[in-house]
Amino acid sequence: MITGGAGFIGSHVVRLFVNKYPDYRIVNLDKLTYAGNLANLRDVEDRPNYRFVRMDICDFEGVLALMKEERIDGIIHLAAESHVDRSIKDPFTFAQTNVMGTLSLLQAAREVWNGEWKGKRFYHISTDEVYGALEMDGSLFTEETRYQPHSPYSAAKASSDHFVRAFHDTYGLPTIVTNCSNNYGPYQFPEKLIPLFINNIRHRRSLPVYGKGENVRDWLYVEDHARAIDTIFHNGRTGETYNIGGFNEWKNIDLVKLLVDTTDRLLGRAPGEDRDLITFVTDRAGHDLRYAIDSTKLRDELGWEPSLQFEEGIEKTVRWYLDNQDWLDNVTSGDYMKYYEQMYGGR
Ligand code: NAD
Ligand code: TYD
Repeated sequence: MITGGAGFIGSHVVRLFVNKYPDYRIVNLDKLTYAGNLANLRDVEDRPNYRFVRMDICDFEGVLALMKEERIDGIIHLAAESHVDRSIKDPFTFAQTNVMGTLSLLQAAREVWNGEWKGKRFYHISTDEVYGALEMDGSLFTEETRYQPHSPYSAAKASSDHFVRAFHDTYGLPTIVTNCSNNYGPYQFPEKLIPLFINNIRHRRSLPVYGKGENVRDWLYVEDHARAIDTIFHNGRTGETYNIGGFNEWKNIDLVKLLVDTTDRLLGRAPGEDRDLITFVTDRAGHDLRYAIDSTKLRDELGWEPSLQFEEGIEKTVRWYLDNQDWLDNVTSGDYMKYYEQMYGGR
């Protein structure tokens, strides 16, 4: 069972598993919030080894019944509210889904598996943002770094991580937690920096860079993350935490310039022509200065490494959004919400 499989990262994980494991039965449990979009999965939705179920992870009885019906033996949990700016405006929803929703899944897994842990696995997907912020001093987040979340988003994710570990330590539930850096690639909702800015460059709208654009993020191509999830789900040790990152730090302003130049070039405009769209705006409240992940443990233990160079990944990503402008138009207009109604008769 993959939760949040209609979202950005989840859709890549569902696609990878449905294609790679024809003998598995993949159940995608997703509430279809604004961030869930079944159009992300059109190429796999008719596969015999795939089932979509619209459900809220907070619906404990529903999750319990579904787990029993499908005899679920593994959970990859990605469903979450994921955008920091939204969490600043509406922290309640973040606590509800990220904390209570995760707890509901943990309780359901514990009840259904009932001490028969062999062959079972509860894999919780988390973020490096739980570690707080780094200075500009070359330091990296390791698996031992103390949790120090600053935003309501990262506070809720941190809380869910603690619950997952508590279920391992208290009940013996076979859990794994991974903390990953910023992802980018196809199907990311255009509220996040990279797809938002590509869309704005396309329309020649302003590019609102928070503060001075000095903040640093460590970017990983989403398919590399999905591959890491596959590796860890199958070969990771239960009770463990693994950091996932690309050793790929970029200052926001430098990344934005690269995005403008790449998008302009691919649109047949003079590269850099649209740099004057860059507008420095009021900084995000509590804006973490720098994230950077040390993923040495994952490389040494399980042999995973990112496969894509960043410039190559950005080129691929910009090209995808420009080749899929219908997808962008559908999600920015809200039309994608109608898809579920057409497919399933009601939302
Ligand atoms: P997303 O916002 O694109 O997708 C979230 C999905 O979860 C959507 O399909 C949504 O419909 C679903 N969902 C939300 N609330 C739900 C609920 N109550 N019940 C069932 N489904 C619900 O998020 P994403 O960027 O794909 O992130 C997926 C996971 O990875 C999250 O747990 C996030 O914290 C984590 N993560 C994301 C990043 C990143 O850069 N995007 C980095 C590290 C970790
Ligand atoms: P975002 O994609 O929201 O990811 P996160 O906050 O989880 O790291 O933002 C990435 C960086 O870009 C972050 O430092 C905030 C900054 N940012 C802007 O400067 N302008 C924007 O409009 C957005 C959405 C983000």
